[in-house]
Amino acid sequence: MEDYSKSIDPRKVPIHVAIIMDGNGRWAAKKKYPRIEGHRRGAEVVEPIVEAAAKAGIKYLSLFAFSTENWARPRDEVKGLWKLLEMFFELKLDRIKEQGVKVLFSGGLQGLPATSRRVIEEAVRQTKKNSRITLNFCINYGGRQEIVDAVNGWIETRKSGEKLSEKKLSAFLYNPKIPDVDLLIRTSGEYRISNFMLWRLAYAELVFMDVLWPDFKAKHLYRALIEYQNRERRFGGV
Ligand code: FPP
Repeated sequence: MEDYSKSIDPRKVPIHVAIIMDGNGRWAAKKKYPRIEGHRRGAEVVEPIVEAAAKAGIKYLSLFAFSTENWARPRDEVKGLWKLLEMFFELKLDRIKEQGVKVLFSGGLQGLPATSRRVIEEAVRQTKKNSRITLNFCINYGGRQEIVDAVNGWIETRKSGEKLSEKKLSAFLYNPKIPDVDLLIRTSGEYRISNFMLWRLAYAELVFMDVLWPDFKAKHLYRALIEYQNRERRFGGV
């Protein structure tokens, strides 16, 4: 198999990569498995991809694991996703820690079951000194909600007559130290943003890949990085 990692220019690696991990349900349907089996296989892909991202020199990896809209799914599927999240950290936290991964969360954690919240908070606590790569898990996350929360956060500190600016709003986003997204990858052949990272996507390169998330491998990530490196980013200039 071709080693794509050798074709990556280490000087042009995106700092922040965001991934919409889509296609678990279709992967399961194709194999006549229940949908939750697709999510289970999808969860198994996460840790090797984090490692591949760290190896490539990516500093921030944001993963869309559950959107504010996903509550509309059948109750059992939603419950299954929380269970998978808990299992993921129970099984993988040690390995994640060893790999120098710092875990952060973006989204409305207060809406989650108490056990899931505890597991997540523990992962953040145990990895807070790590710095090789930041894994930003977006859970119960909505891009519009993040902007609304940021505006409300700013209003609380606002001095009379003060106006909002892009810089001030950025300081109230979830985990404000996380920079703008350089590269967004969406799997499964869908061409949508689906309310992900709206503010930080402003100048991102978008790469849509025709692979279902449970089949996503390091080679796909590296292929997306090569595609990114072949794009010319102008940020509105010429
Ligand atoms: C989209 O597939 C995927 C999700 C809504 C959830 C993403 C979750 C995972 C990858 C597993 C959880 C990860 C961890 C670490 C616990 P879909 O169900 O929308 O697929 P479909 O569009 O084919 O139906």
